[in-house]
Formats: sequence, C-alpha cells, structure tokens
Amino acid sequence: MAITTATERIRTIGGRVLRGRVAIGGAKNAALPAMAAALLTEEECVLENVPLLEDVVVMTELLRALGAEVDLDTERHRVRIRAADIESFEPPPELVARMRASFLVTGPLLARFGRARSIPPGGCQLGSRPVDVDLRGFRKFGAQVEVTESGFELRSGRLRGCEIYMDYPSHTGTENLLMAACLAQGTTTILNAAAEPEIVNLGQILQDMGARINGLGTSRIVVQGVDRLRGYRASVLPDRLEAGTLAIAAAITHGEVILDHVREADMAPLTHKLREAGAEVWWSESSMLVRAPGPLYATEIQALPFPGFPTDLQAAFAVLMTQAQGRSRIFERVFNDRLRYTSELQRMGARIELIDRQQAIIEGPVKLQGTAVRALDIRSGACLVLAGLVAEGETIVLEAHHLRRGYEDLVGKLAALGADIHYA
Ligand code: EPU
Repeated sequence: MAITTATERIRTIGGRVLRGRVAIGGAKNAALPAMAAALLTEEECVLENVPLLEDVVVMTELLRALGAEVDLDTERHRVRIRAADIESFEPPPELVARMRASFLVTGPLLARFGRARSIPPGGCQLGSRPVDVDLRGFRKFGAQVEVTESGFELRSGRLRGCEIYMDYPSHTGTENLLMAACLAQGTTTILNAAAEPEIVNLGQILQDMGARINGLGTSRIVVQGVDRLRGYRASVLPDRLEAGTLAIAAAITHGEVILDHVREADMAPLTHKLREAGAEVWWSESSMLVRAPGPLYATEIQALPFPGFPTDLQAAFAVLMTQAQGRSRIFERVFNDRLRYTSELQRMGARIELIDRQQAIIEGPVKLQGTAVRALDIRSGACLVLAGLVAEGETIVLEAHHLRRGYEDLVGKLAALGADIHYA
C-alpha cells in the first residue's frame, strides 16, 4: 500500500435501496495510537484487525523513519512493530503534516528516551486543533517544553508522576499523556480525561504491555508508572464510525443492512438517534441490523465527547436530516468549524440554515439533486457520498482521496450493498 495523493472522484447514481450484510473493520482512531504505543518498548508488538487506510500507512512510514522495524501485512490486516533501535526523535515534518495522530509519538518518545521534537500536527481542518493539553501535561511530568519557530522541542529525565487536569477532554491528548504516564516514576492521575472507546482500547493494550492503569472509560484515569513495558499482541476494536456511516446509509435509503463485528455499547449514541428518527435497530451479539421501512422524522443532535453523539458522524447524520420530515437541528460542540460541508449539501438542494459556525437547522424532506461537490475532509467526504445515494441523478464527489485516509473501501462496501457507486 502506498500513500496516494492523486485527486480522486467518486460517482454515484442515487435511488438504490441498500440491502445485505457487511463486515466492519478495525478503527482508524484506535489503530494509530496502538501503533504509536509500540515505541514504549524494545519488544515486538503485533496488532491485528488493522484497517488498510492511508493514515495507517503514514504511521507505518513515520515509525520507520524513527528507526522502528515495521511490517504491514495487508493480506492479514496485521502490523508488526519492533522499536528496538530508535535513532531519531523527530518524525518527518511532511508526515506529521498529514495527520493529527502523528503527534501521538511524542508522549512515548519523551517517556522512553527523554526527548522528542515535532512540528504542530496537521490533519482535517475542523477549526482550532491545538495540542496545548499535551504540552501542559508534559510540563507537569517535569519535561522542558520549548515552543520554537518550527514546532516543539521536548526534553526530560525520567518523567515524574503527577496530577494532570485537562482543560478539555482531548481525545489524542488523553492518549498521549496516558502513554507517557505508563513509564513515569510514581502515580499519575489524569482528571477530565476523555472516555472514547478508542482510548479504552489503547489502555487495554498498554495493560497487556504491563502498564498499571485504573479508570479507563471514565474521566479519572490513574496510572502507576512501571520501569519497562513488554511487547503486545492485540486487536483493534471495530470502527464505530465506519459502522455508523453504513448504518446511516441503510436508513436514508430505506434499506435493510446487517453490520457484523460491531460493539453495541460503542454504537449507543447513534442507535438512540436513529431510533428517534424512525429507523429500527436490532442487535444480535456483535451484529447490528438497521432498517427504515417507514418515514424518517426530524431530530436534534449535539456532537459531544463520548458518550455524546460522535462529531465524526455529525455530517453523515445531516444527510439523514435532509430526508426527515420536519425541522432538525445540529449543535456541533466539539469543533468550532465543522459545518463547512453544509454549503456542499446546499448545492445539492438541501435546505440548511447555518445559525453560526456550530449550529445548523435542516428542513426536510427534500429530494437532493446530483451535482459535483467537494469533499473537505474524511467525514465530510463520507457525508457527500451518502447524499449521493439518495440524490436524483449523478453525484460526483471531488477530492475524494480524503476518504481513503479514514475508510477502508467505503465505495466497495456500499456497492456490495447495492449502491450504484464507483471511483472515476
Ligand atoms: N482542544 C483544545 N485543546 C487541546 C486539544 C483539543 O481545546 O489541547 C479542543 C479542540 O480545539 C477541539 C476539541 O478539543 O475543539 C476536540 O479535540 P480533540 O483533541 O479531542 O480531538 P483530536 O484528538 O484532535 C480525535 C480524532 C478525531 C475526532 C476527535 C473527537 C484521532 C486521530 N482523531 O481528534 O477524528 O473527531 O478526536 O472525537 O483520534 C476523524 O477520524 O475523522 C477525526 C477527525
């Protein structure tokens, strides 16, 4: 798998009803921190159920650039990492610029080697995305944090356990500090920690490595530092965002789809809102059936940290709102500029009133009209693909390469469920 930069397009002819069964892959936002965690040990780490995504390839290259041996087995969805001979403490800027998760190597590098340097991470443009939670935490551990013209220079002796209060329950910030705390001397308490399932997955992998962690999945995580960590053999948890995107696709097309390898608790925020909107959701162990035989109704979502409604499904759910009877409302409380995609939906005929950069009102139902629209980032790209499924005529999603960063073969999976969709 290579990193692609080519501008791609996805063509969809709307109107097909999705039916069938689809297997959900591993979560990007769990695979990336788990790969970074391999830097905490010189032993081999083996990660299964790794989604084949561009961001995973970027993390693979980034770890190699630091000196780790990394073998990505695309047949088996498995990555082996051995960070025995780390020779660089500065991930290549061109890779750091590609995704926010690249910053997750700084905590492990600092904790194990006492040094790291990085430019500010790139990633989807969703509004302000600082890393001050991470930096303040590093300082609390006793590290020197220098903000230079080109980025951040971190240095320390052995990190010292401490109490960290996070101003905001940052997702990657919690992961970075959690990883660093595992090798710190003494006890670290992280207050106002994020509780996303991907963070719990990371914490369990760290426990497998020998870390002593309590409070995963709560806002108070306590870590008893250890002198060294061993390798791990672990599996990435199912991707609640891929599952959510396909569940919404099933509902808006009034289809019936079974999603396999999904975790019910992780899907609860979406399940509630789908049912409230008139769709049916049924569970049988790790399979989720979504169907929407009748009309969809207006609803309200508030994107918040877990277990709030996932901000990464906010745009996809907006498409459902365009198909629902009445006045729906979105309140995006996580990012301060994540409604820009609404102008693309408006170009397809959606009736959306932007109250401000974080609030929108959507009137439905409307018959969307196929046209050329532009993906702005991973999740807005998925939203436009979904819009194409219910639009009249042909929709062309431009700059669709964004989708490859976060979805493994979304186009193929939708086509297998009956959508008229292909790369062009
Ligand atoms: N924030 C601060 N200070 C900080 C850090 C964050 O104020 O030091 C604020 C940000 O400005 C933002 C909010 O906190 O408004 C959320 O940021 P957070 O740090 O929690 O998000 P993230 O770690 O940058 C991860 C995911 C995102 C997902 C968010 C929210 C990864 C690699 N990325 O980002 O995923 O939207 O959490 O759950 O895990 C995606 O997959 O498409 C994606 C964008």
